[in-house]
Amino acid sequence: MHKIAVIPGDGTGPEVVQEGLKALAAVAARFDIKYELTWFDFGGDRYLRTGEVLPAEAVDQLRRFDAIYLGAIGHPEVKPGILEKGILLRLRFELDQYINLRPVKLYPSVPTPLADKGPDDIDFVVVRENTEGLYAGAGGTLKRGTADEVAVQESINTRKGVERCLRYAFEYTRRRNRRKTLTLCGKTNVLTYAFDLWERAFHEIGARDYPDIKREYAHVDATCMWMVKNPEWFDVIVTDNMFGDIITDLGAMIQGGMGIAAGGNINPEGVSMFEPIGGSAPKYTGQNVINPMAAIGACQLMLATLGEAAGARVLEAAIVSTLPRLESLAAGKMGYSTSQVGDLIAAAVAAA
Ligand code: IPM
Ligand code: MN
Repeated sequence: MHKIAVIPGDGTGPEVVQEGLKALAAVAARFDIKYELTWFDFGGDRYLRTGEVLPAEAVDQLRRFDAIYLGAIGHPEVKPGILEKGILLRLRFELDQYINLRPVKLYPSVPTPLADKGPDDIDFVVVRENTEGLYAGAGGTLKRGTADEVAVQESINTRKGVERCLRYAFEYTRRRNRRKTLTLCGKTNVLTYAFDLWERAFHEIGARDYPDIKREYAHVDATCMWMVKNPEWFDVIVTDNMFGDIITDLGAMIQGGMGIAAGGNINPEGVSMFEPIGGSAPKYTGQNVINPMAAIGACQLMLATLGEAAGARVLEAAIVSTLPRLESLAAGKMGYSTSQVGDLIAAAVAAA
């Protein structure tokens, strides 16, 4: 029995979560998977109503689940940062979800803005460190609001945090068993403390424990260039929190946009959280027009992480067979409503 916590969250989150759960129900019926859902109303509306971002006992409650399925966090009436830091980042940190796993895979029939590139060229995975770096919140301000203002924001990189992320990435590259190439994305020419640590750990661990994995290095700016010019060069990319945040938005665009990009916040020893990476899309809220494919993809990642490999495979096949039926991946232009896309997926899973 898989115990799944559901946080629909803000904006279009609840609409896409509903379709992801429709897909989950279809897969569960097909493979006789037993699961139980528990709902949590964390998000902007609750905050505006109660003044509480995340109740004190929430993290300990969530720790008891096998997975968390999240819609979106972010509300137009709440100052940016409050919900992101108070819910999303707090859960990533406190549940020690030290990996943010973001596949960048162009499915057949999905348009990419890259000319002359197809599904054979765009198929890699970004392993983003998810608990340290610039996200750790280290730093501070002095004399704020005056002409002498000082703002310092520090990147925290611990040997332990870097090492566990690198090990996960090496293991993932081995398991993926494609080009067996792991690229460290950094900025060793400028960030000479942080990426010195990353680079030494990368080569030490790689040479000692993963001799079968080819090691490559690219600066983050060059990585952006190659992702556009020669995305086929990448198999698995490992990088820090901030660079990972940035390059995965670029990755989302080349795989067809925010309507399709999904990610997992993974604690390999604890509870992981799965989400579409697109955000709450307030302007489409409540209209039944948002594309739920990213949330359905997040459900697929969740199934894979829960050990339901066959279910995950069938769900991916359903995504692949359904995508060509959509006129566009953009909200309001799919030729179907949000819930109809969920119905198509459920039917494809049932027929598989
Ligand atoms: C993401 C988002 C978050 C991040 C924001 C909402 C805090 O952009 O999941 O990539 O920066 O990690
Ligand atoms: Mn981001």
